Order: sequence, then C-alpha cells, then structure tokens
Amino acid sequence: MWGGFNTALEYTNTTEFCLSCHEMKVGEEWRESTHFQNPSGVTAGCPDCHVPKEWTAKVARKIAATSDLYYHILGTIDTPEKFEAKRPEMAERVWARMTASGSRECKNCHAYESMDFHNQSQRAQEKMQPASEKDTPCVECHTGLAHKRPPRDD
Ligand code: HEC
Ligand code: HEC
Ligand code: HEC
Ligand code: HEC
Repeated sequence: MWGGFNTALEYTNTTEFCLSCHEMKVGEEWRESTHFQNPSGVTAGCPDCHVPKEWTAKVARKIAATSDLYYHILGTIDTPEKFEAKRPEMAERVWARMTASGSRECKNCHAYESMDFHNQSQRAQEKMQPASEKDTPCVECHTGLAHKRPPRDD
C-alpha cells in the first residue's frame, strides 16, 4: 500500500502529470521557451518552477494540486477561451506565491552568489547586483518565462 501511495505521490511531481491537464496553451508555450531548450541543454520542467523542493512546501502544493482535480471536473480551463479568461487571475496567484517564497524555486537552479555579474549584459548587471544584496525575489523583475505573460498591474 505504501509503495502504491508513494508512487502516486512521485507521479504527481512530474511534468508528464502536469501536461495531462495543461498541454493546451501552457504546454505549447513552455516548449517554445528558453526553459525548455537552450544552449546549456538544461530543461526546467513544470515541477521545477511550480513545486517547491522542500518537503513541507511540497505537501502544501500537493493539496493545491488535489483541488486542481476538482476544478478540472468543473472544467474551468478546458477551452482556450476559458483558459485565457482565467489566465490573469491564475498568473497573479503564481506571482504572489513566488514573491512570498522569495522565488525559492528559481534559486534551486539560479543563485545570486553564482552569478558572474561582469559577464552579464550591462542592464542585467546594473539591476541584479543590487538585487543580490537585498535577495530580491526574481519574479519582481522576471515574468513570462515559460508562458505568455498577461498584463500585470504594478
Ligand atoms: C487534473 C488536471 C490537472 C493536473 C494534473 C494539473 N493541473 Fe494545474 N490546474 C488545473 C486546473 C483546472 C486549473 C485552474 C484552476 C482554477 O480554476 O482556478 C489549474 C491551475 C494551475 C495553476 C494556476 C493557478 C494556481 O493557483 O496556481 C498552476 C500554476 C498549475 N495549475 C500548475 C500545475 C502543475 C505544476 C501541475 C503538475 C505538478 C499541475 N498543475 C497539474 C488542472 C490540473
Ligand atoms: C531547472 C533549472 C531552472 C529553474 C528551476 C529556473 N531556471 Fe531560469 N534558466 C535555466 C536555464 C538552464 C536557462 C538557460 C541558460 C542558457 O541560456 O543556456 C535559464 C534562463 C533564464 C533566464 C534568461 C533567459 C530568459 O528566458 O529570459 C532568466 C531571466 C531566468 N532563467 C530566470 C528564471 C526565473 C525567474 C526562474 C523561477 C521562476 C527560473 N529561471 C527557474 C534553468 C532554470
Ligand atoms: C531588480 C530587477 C531584477 C531582479 C530582482 C532579478 N533580475 Fe535578472 N535581470 C534583470 C535585468 C534588467 C536583466 C537584463 C535582461 C532584461 O532586460 O530582461 C536580467 C537578466 C537576467 C538573466 C540573463 C543574464 C544575461 O546577461 O544574459 C538571467 C539568467 C536572470 N536575469 C536571472 C535572474 C534570477 C534567477 C533572479 C533571481 C535570483 C533575477 N534574475 C533577479 C533584472 C532583475
Ligand atoms: C521557468 C519557470 C517556469 C516553468 C518551467 C513553468 N512555469 Fe508555469 N509559471 C511560471 C511563472 C513565473 C508564472 C506566472 C505568470 C508568468 O509570469 O508567466 C507561471 C504561470 C503558470 C500558470 C498560470 C497561467 C499563466 O499562463 O500565467 C500555469 C497554469 C502554469 N504556470 C503551469 C505550468 C506548467 C503545466 C508547466 C510545465 C509545462 C510550467 N508552468 C512551467 C514559471 C514557470
């Protein structure tokens, strides 16, 4: 029984699982993005950005993923039109979460401490060197990384 339960939990943490519901729009846009394919050959899958690695945070997201299931049955995003209508509200929730976490998920791959500021573009260096001193959440400046970015209020 535990084997089955753990296997199910593992599966919910895969890009394949996410795509089983999010192929339309989200999957298509992700495959066009730098985070799918880049010169370094590193792919960031859905759980890399959306499911925090830390155990407690992981469980919290699992619970949220379970309520996704109910929403799916309700069909809140099952056509491109419904998805686009809901996109701004969904994006706001993601931004709020990634701001509150300090963009921890991004920092599993990118670290301010590892940035070679001198090899960055001047604009990047000017903004990110001060940001590194304050440990500013990445999503305060970077959005629309893997999906089309809806307009943001601030
Ligand atoms: C069973 C279908 C299903 C699966 C599997 C699924 N989702 Fe969702 N997801 C949905 C639906 C439906 C919504 C829209 C919820 C609403 O109406 O607000 C949603 C919304 C979202 C949102 C935006 C809203 C929010 O509050 O975060 C994100 C981000 C998201 N899903 C990520 C994921 C990731 C990452 C995975 C894989 C770990 C995943 N989903 C797996 C159906 C699913
Ligand atoms: C699984 C590892 C991984 C995660 C998680 C990740 N990235 Fe990346 N990111 C990469 C790789 C690899 C590249 C491409 C590097 C190259 O150009 O070869 C990249 C490129 C970028 C770029 C430059 C290209 C572009 O699309 O603008 C930005 C900005 C960026 N990431 C920000 C973020 C932010 C913000 C997050 C969190 C929301 C994040 N990344 C999460 C691995 C990751
Ligand atoms: C204060 C705003 C700000 C914050 C916070 C910030 N960045 Fe940036 N970043 C920029 C700007 C501006 C650029 C230049 C490219 C551009 O205009 O998008 C950039 C460029 C990048 C690049 C491309 C570097 C290059 O020279 O090609 C990566 C990768 C990146 N950021 C990742 C991150 C990650 C990861 C975080 C969080 C750990 C982060 N940034 C936080 C403003 C910011
Ligand atoms: C590089 C990090 C990153 C990756 C990889 C990523 N996302 Fe996102 N996702 C974000 C960010 C940041 C947002 C907030 C909106 C924005 O800035 O585009 C977001 C928003 C969303 C939304 C809300 C709707 C929207 O378009 O804003 C859904 C649903 C979602 N992601 C699901 C997924 C799924 C499923 C995958 C895998 C196919 C995935 N994401 C891969 C960073 C990522």
